[in-house]
Amino acid sequence: MLSVRDLSIAYRTGRKESVDAVTGVNLDLYEGQSLALVGESGCGKTTLGLGLLRLLPGLGEITSGSLVYRLKDGTRADLLKLKPEPLRRFRWNEAAMVFQGAMNAFNPVARIFDHFADTLRDHSDGKRWTKKAVEARAGELLETVRLDPDRVLPSYPHELSGGMKQRALIALAIALDPQVLVLDEPTTALDLLTQRQIVQQLHELRRKFGFTMVFITHDLGLAAELADRVATMYAGRIIETGSARDIFHEPKHPYTAGLINAVMPVKGDRPALESIPGYPPSLKAMPPGCPFHPRCAFATAECRTAPVGLDVLTERPQGMTHSAACLHHDRITLTRKESSNV
Ligand SMILES: Nc1ncnc2c1ncn2[C@@H]1O[C@H](COP(=O)(O)OP(=O)(O)O)[C@@H](O)[C@H]1O
Ligand code: SF4
Ligand SMILES: [Mg+2]
Repeated sequence: MLSVRDLSIAYRTGRKESVDAVTGVNLDLYEGQSLALVGESGCGKTTLGLGLLRLLPGLGEITSGSLVYRLKDGTRADLLKLKPEPLRRFRWNEAAMVFQGAMNAFNPVARIFDHFADTLRDHSDGKRWTKKAVEARAGELLETVRLDPDRVLPSYPHELSGGMKQRALIALAIALDPQVLVLDEPTTALDLLTQRQIVQQLHELRRKFGFTMVFITHDLGLAAELADRVATMYAGRIIETGSARDIFHEPKHPYTAGLINAVMPVKGDRPALESIPGYPPSLKAMPPGCPFHPRCAFATAECRTAPVGLDVLTERPQGMTHSAACLHHDRITLTRKESSNV
């Protein structure tokens, strides 16, 4: 569906200064797959998600790379070369995004119906969306996320709970039947039971509409539940990627293993949780060699100087190949064995 090559994104921070928020990302996404982008706050997940749809804010700029999508008509398009009009058509029709914290960004003086009507009318090619047609499409989508259209469509956003708003927002994002849906921390502001419902409904939506999903989260439990594939990000780079099974059972980068060890298992004894010492590096002062070396228990002299790229560890089909950017990946094992409970 999507092929990302050597994608780098920078934010301008001054007249002549910028920081690289995403560096050299390579990623292939196959039809129907769900990919979780995981990592600590500030590692570049949102920036990459926005970059995938060319939705970066004014100061953000894609500085290198290519971003090729397979469109609904079977042709391929490099998003970085699309002109404004085809780009407008691309968004929401071909790929859509549920923004971080966006449930608070509904227009407070517009009813939910109006949000659906505006999205369908603004982004459809030529199709006339009558009130009846909007109601029918919105109704179908809202019912799939278990919301009552008769109650929700005439409501203003403030009349809905957080969970209802998030579900309405997901329904809105897929209104034009996009092939790819990027969701940025879609459950973070919600209580646990509501999180569960959203996860279940995302499963149902994928079954029904078959879209490919990129799911951004710092919550490994959610990633384990929703993802076929996982990519761990650190300091703007993908430092490990593989099937959810490989990543959660046999992580080969000490940072991924550290993230897993820092999560409380649901079942079994309560082990002492291990945190990762230190902080992520400043984007303005990246350490030489492996960017994780100041925090890594396995670091050797070589790690402090040698450039470290993703190495293929186990080849698998459909983009599931397990790769890690660690010189000493063969020494990495999970200290906690019950990681399947994560
Ligand atoms: N608009 C912006 N201007 C300048 N720097 C930004 C901007 N947005 C994000 N950044 C920086 O880019 C890095 C990655 O941020 P982000 O993509 O939001 O990470 P995450 O979503 O993983 O928390 C951070 O260091 C952040 O400070
Ligand atoms: S390359 Fe070295 S410093 Fe980097 S994660 Fe591997 S062992 Fe740690
Ligand atoms: Mg973010």
